[in-house]
Amino acid sequence: MLTYLFEPDDATPAKPQAAPYTPSPIIGASLARIDGPLKTTGRASYAADYNFPRMVYGVAVGSTVANGTIRSVDTSAAKKMPGVLLVLTHENINAALRVPNGVRAGRNSETRGPLEDNIIGYWGQYVALAVAETFEQAQAAAAAVHVQYDGKQANVSTVLDDADVTSSRTNSKRGDTDSAFPSSPVQIDETYVTPVETHNPMEMHATVAVWDGSKFTLYECTQGVVNHLNVMAAVLGVPKENIQVISRFIGSGFGGKLFPWPHSALAATASRRLNRPVKLSVSRKQMFTSVGHRPRTQQRMRIGATPDGKLLSLQQDYRNHTSLGDNVGENCGEATPFLYSVANLQVTSAMVKRNVGAPTPMRGPGAVPGLFAVESAMDELAVKLKMDPVELRLRNDTLTDESNNKPFSSRHYKECLQTGAEKFGWARRTPAIGSMRKGDLVLGWGVAGASWGAGRGGSDATVTLKSDGTVRVSSATQDPGTGTYTVVAQIVSDRTGIPVDKIDVVLGDSSLVPGPTSGGSTATASVIPAVAQGTDDAVKSLLTIATQTSGSPFFQQDTTTLAISGGRVHAADKPSQSGTPYQDLLKLANTGEATGKGHTGGVGSDTDARNYSMHSFGAQFVEVEWDPGIARLRASRVVTVIDGGRIINQKTATNQIAGAVVMGIGMALMEQTIYDPRNGHPINDNFADYLVATNADAPPIDVHFLDIPDPMLGQYGARGIGEIGLAGVAPAITAAVYHATGVRVRSLPVRIEDLLASEA
Ligand code: MOS
Repeated sequence: MLTYLFEPDDATPAKPQAAPYTPSPIIGASLARIDGPLKTTGRASYAADYNFPRMVYGVAVGSTVANGTIRSVDTSAAKKMPGVLLVLTHENINAALRVPNGVRAGRNSETRGPLEDNIIGYWGQYVALAVAETFEQAQAAAAAVHVQYDGKQANVSTVLDDADVTSSRTNSKRGDTDSAFPSSPVQIDETYVTPVETHNPMEMHATVAVWDGSKFTLYECTQGVVNHLNVMAAVLGVPKENIQVISRFIGSGFGGKLFPWPHSALAATASRRLNRPVKLSVSRKQMFTSVGHRPRTQQRMRIGATPDGKLLSLQQDYRNHTSLGDNVGENCGEATPFLYSVANLQVTSAMVKRNVGAPTPMRGPGAVPGLFAVESAMDELAVKLKMDPVELRLRNDTLTDESNNKPFSSRHYKECLQTGAEKFGWARRTPAIGSMRKGDLVLGWGVAGASWGAGRGGSDATVTLKSDGTVRVSSATQDPGTGTYTVVAQIVSDRTGIPVDKIDVVLGDSSLVPGPTSGGSTATASVIPAVAQGTDDAVKSLLTIATQTSGSPFFQQDTTTLAISGGRVHAADKPSQSGTPYQDLLKLANTGEATGKGHTGGVGSDTDARNYSMHSFGAQFVEVEWDPGIARLRASRVVTVIDGGRIINQKTATNQIAGAVVMGIGMALMEQTIYDPRNGHPINDNFADYLVATNADAPPIDVHFLDIPDPMLGQYGARGIGEIGLAGVAPAITAAVYHATGVRVRSLPVRIEDLLASEA
């Protein structure tokens, strides 16, 4: 009997008090995406779907060496081909397309400007852009550009050697691990490796650049229209008011679309040069070189503990590879300093230069590979202690962030573990390797914890109540497919009772009032308070109109005695049905609309929130089925419990987490980008050779939310979610693999070859 399963959670931290607010049932409803019909009928326009009169096509040429210099570029044949209008190279681009020194712009992906010089740092780096009347002509011209290189040996070594280390630093430190670890009675000292993973959203990157003689309009797939605008203004050397970035729909990004990539500046430059709209699409193959990846990581974990499982010392020394031109750290220690209580802790990091394109954040950057190491090491410790791995985690739970001594705004990691164990049936687990069977199959059960930062950035929103009975709500954030359109509509509906199908949400356009980047699972938490405030402000102006219009049933009444619900204005102490539809009041006043504005700052400017440590938590329980007869491994069942604040939309939230779990199955069992050691070419740069988990690989996934509002994230207490669902999946799978087979896989992905040593 595992007593912890039924222990009351008596250690819930004293929570800071949120302003009491009880939302209407639309909050937390399982509402389908309001933009779903546009997508399923093909009417939603993604970046590459835009077409304009006189539009021409660009095709980029990638380097076929990964290291060295360009000796010569011969474009003469290409330029003579039919329909060819322009071939850009480093010899004729005439401007460094980079953020100038000293200019604070925003975050770009590569420091070096595209085609800036003749130096080659990675295979596939753009060396030319062919532009022609048709896509086929541009493709043919790109193939006819003849480049000669002075190539040097590429270094894409997967061993992140001591000799290559650069930018070492200590990320977090307390106590003294140097003395605590060696003197610990029980020790774990192992190294874990995660490979390069390439973002593979269904929608490939593209830019359609339209230059009208003074102004750029850029149709993009970006997770941040505002950041994209700021960076491109600096890169292209035009005032911000002369650029508009539009990204209405995005076929997912996973971080790969957070910051601009070189094709955007190239498309804009060609458009300005030719005075014509230019469409430049990044091919699936180019996505493996030119729009980022999750870098390879190598993490040494040292854990010291008492025989009864109390952590004494925790040490994580990690490295990640990065490109020659950019120091992009993979923050593997994101969750390490606060996940468990431990007096002695040290996290250090370093980077290793390789001939690869710039890495970039990929879903749960840092924490996801970091937790693979931390949670794998915890599982190894549990095995060594002969202790249940859930019990080990519960024994080391903490209600204070020991890295900064701040209380958590809302931490329910323990309840995630307990609820997950109960739902999974964990009490039935027998710990011996290969001891659980289902017919000829061996079952493995594994668990791991999850954590991801919570936060809120600044956001504005504009809300307009219109006399035609609709509402327009807008902000320059965007919906990468996660459901932002829908949750924004739900907030307006919650505060007015106006049905969601009357609410027109306008996002994905930098000319709107500023909104947050869709990154780090923070967009929901950021935009919601601004939308709520904007809605309330619009209602206030509606009530003012209602009380100042003669003939209005509320003429000369005090606005503070009035309320809006069910879309009707009524006396606050009377029911909605007694009131007047808001649009009738606007019509009566001969006013087309009542507008409100909302603005909320980020947590950095919030003196209350700054006193708390804010994170989401979760627990992943996984069953694998191992068929020793044919060496087949499948993830067969997942229970995931998420402490992600208040859930605004059960359906889109579940979708986010289930999707992330599938991605975690891919991370554990399939995904890895392999660079050819001879020339740095990613040899599996296509969907046939780079395996991602699909529906066929997805087992039943039970997603459960604790749904406890985070009082530091505004009235709704909603955190963004998505990335948290990926954290912990891979270590839960490798723990389950160990339980089934006795094989401990410390270097992802798990391969059949690893499992041939199975004991079962
Ligand atoms: Mo996320 S990696 O911030 O899109």
